[in-house]
Amino acid sequence: MFRVKKYLQLVLLVSLFLATGVFLLHQKSYRSFGAVDSSHAQEVGWQERAPRSLSGNDYENNFVEVLRSTATPSPSSTSVADLFISVKTTVHYHQARLPVILKTWFQLAKQQTWFFTDSDDPEFQKRTNGHMVNTNCSSTHNRKALCCKMSVELDAFLDSDKK
Ligand SMILES: *[C@@H]1O[C@H](CO)[C@@H](O)[C@H](O)[C@H]1NC(C)=O
Repeated sequence: MFRVKKYLQLVLLVSLFLATGVFLLHQKSYRSFGAVDSSHAQEVGWQERAPRSLSGNDYENNFVEVLRSTATPSPSSTSVADLFISVKTTVHYHQARLPVILKTWFQLAKQQTWFFTDSDDPEFQKRTNGHMVNTNCSSTHNRKALCCKMSVELDAFLDSDKK
């Protein structure tokens, strides 16, 4: 009898301990995700997204989700031919960065992709089939130079009549 009582006391104590632990964990997770919960409640209709990660499938899934959430109701009606793809670059990085683009995804969108740079470059003009645009903007990385290039990019986009 004494042993059973002792045993029941122990079971009760352990349950109490576990219940307290669960309660505290719940409180903690509620607090740390409280901000997400409330913003989620305000933005009805927005899909909840996991934090951005550059590794593997996470990034791909997020990218697809971003495309879905920003797409018009019928995403299948947009094809590559409807797109205008703008790459902002600078003469200092042509050799270092353009070849890998030209060897990879540029091959799938040669007609749509334009490179906005700050110098004439006959070599890459040839390799991109004339898709290098010299913006005549400064090659520095300050706000004014970047906005200058952006304005040429936007003008080219508007002239292109692409989506
Ligand atoms: C850059 O300057 C050249 C030479 O003056 C000109 O032909 C070209 O149209 C200019 N580019 C832009 C985007 O204005």
